[in-house]
Amino acid sequence: MKYLTFKSLVSLFALLASLILAGSLPAQTNPPIPQIVHTGSHYQLLVNGKPYLILGGQAHNSSASNPKDLEPVWKSLVAMHANTAEVPIYWELVEPQPGHFDFHLIDSIIQGARRHGLHVVLLWFGTWKNGNMSYTPAWIKEDPAKYFRVRNEVGQPIDVISPFCTAAREADERAFAAVMQHIKSVDESERTVIMMQVENETGLVGTDRDYSPQATAKYESQVPAALMSYLEAHRGHLMPALESAWAAKHFAPSGTWQNVFGDLAPEAFSAWYVASYVNAVAAAGKQQYPLPMYCNNWLAGPGAARAGDWPSGGPTIHVLDIWKAAAPSIDVLAPDIYIPEFLETAGAFHRPDNPLFVPETAFRPSYAAYVFPDLAEFNGLGFSPFGIDFAVQDGKLSPAGQALADDYEVLQPLLSMIEKFQYTGKLFSVIQGVDNANVIRLGHELAAVAYYSWGRRFIPPSAERHRAPRAGGLIIELAPDDYIVAGYGFRIVFRNLVGPAQSPEFVSIERGTFHGTEWVPEQRLNGDELHVNLLFKPGILRVRLYNLN
Ligand code: DGJ
Repeated sequence: MKYLTFKSLVSLFALLASLILAGSLPAQTNPPIPQIVHTGSHYQLLVNGKPYLILGGQAHNSSASNPKDLEPVWKSLVAMHANTAEVPIYWELVEPQPGHFDFHLIDSIIQGARRHGLHVVLLWFGTWKNGNMSYTPAWIKEDPAKYFRVRNEVGQPIDVISPFCTAAREADERAFAAVMQHIKSVDESERTVIMMQVENETGLVGTDRDYSPQATAKYESQVPAALMSYLEAHRGHLMPALESAWAAKHFAPSGTWQNVFGDLAPEAFSAWYVASYVNAVAAAGKQQYPLPMYCNNWLAGPGAARAGDWPSGGPTIHVLDIWKAAAPSIDVLAPDIYIPEFLETAGAFHRPDNPLFVPETAFRPSYAAYVFPDLAEFNGLGFSPFGIDFAVQDGKLSPAGQALADDYEVLQPLLSMIEKFQYTGKLFSVIQGVDNANVIRLGHELAAVAYYSWGRRFIPPSAERHRAPRAGGLIIELAPDDYIVAGYGFRIVFRNLVGPAQSPEFVSIERGTFHGTEWVPEQRLNGDELHVNLLFKPGILRVRLYNLN
């Protein structure tokens, strides 16, 4: 065997380089950066240049300070057929000393996700975590003179960094920028990380606004012109609480916060300044590596009487428009939905200027099926129950894990179809409520009546709210006489809405799956099985209909 000399190696490299430069050999290019494409009122998350829907699960808060604690997270997500992990990264551990960064935990998250064939959404626990500052580094906590706190109505400092603290904001901007630069350096060739959550449930817990003298001076001065012109441009389409607060002030074109927003003034004021702070952090990160970025939201209520009971100034429904005006670097404002009013909340956050993404919801059997309306009714970007770490116990899925696994397993082969049919008006969701049946109006004077089982597995959620899984699924209209029905825990009867009160007849029913957007039949159902029945086993059916009239 003849060995290459150093000289011949050098010439070989020179030749390769010149071929690449001359365009004869393809240069190694990175896959396109993940992005959210916004066309009119339609949104699509693109990963590696292709539409992507997040079937996610979020790790518990303390699971990412040691790679070994993430092992159950990976295992659970794979067992539940998830495609994306949401994992926190902590400012206090990323920058233990000012300017000294440690990225080894971020690296281990990315490597762990790759080993398990998952994408990752990283959650930046920075200045804010659940309306307080518990993840700021010790050098921030211990220097309240420099990194000053919000003061409550009686002037006491509380454990929330003031949104007026420039030193804290600049420190967070620097840290987040360093994080994004690092992620770019280790991930731009693979794009394992697809999105960033900037902060966590921002806002002020314990007071409706900062009452420090400098904050009060701002509060008593004019509402910034940029906000007033945003409101003017969107008048008539603002969220109801904001619209009516401003209407009560006769749509004042300018004035102090009190003059313009009346009762909503402290929360509106907090929202503008918290959102401006977070926007600066996000912008600093995007300058390094412009991944899609979102902020999650601790909802206002239930049992919360006034702003400050929920984090005042976070992107709640009340002040969503103020966030839109103040934080253009944030692509999505996203609700954490732990309340039974899942559908109402999802509907409120799904707007022409904001796609729905549910980064947290309860990891309970009764919440899993909400993934169907999220994706099918509200054109959502994704769904991710919180605290999935121990879904696998003793080699078996927990009840919540099993409920999510059943739904994600049905959804995995349908993702390309859902991406294709979102926003077309031909994608419908099936979701069990308190009744044993409900009517889903399809197009073409046709309805699908979904009947739910009151058997052992699916119990009406009002009776057994958290313990029993909720039935759910979706329907896709391929053609006026050709439907996909998928999910678990229901059967469908099609009904004509005009003409003689009869159901269309079946040409055929098949059980099967999809490869991309191609239907792959697996079983022909006829005779005793000629029913659109998913009561006893999850699955995907294709139903062809014909009408005699
Ligand atoms: C919402 C927060 O965003 C999460 O980090 C976690 O604290 C959950 N609440 C706990 O329910």
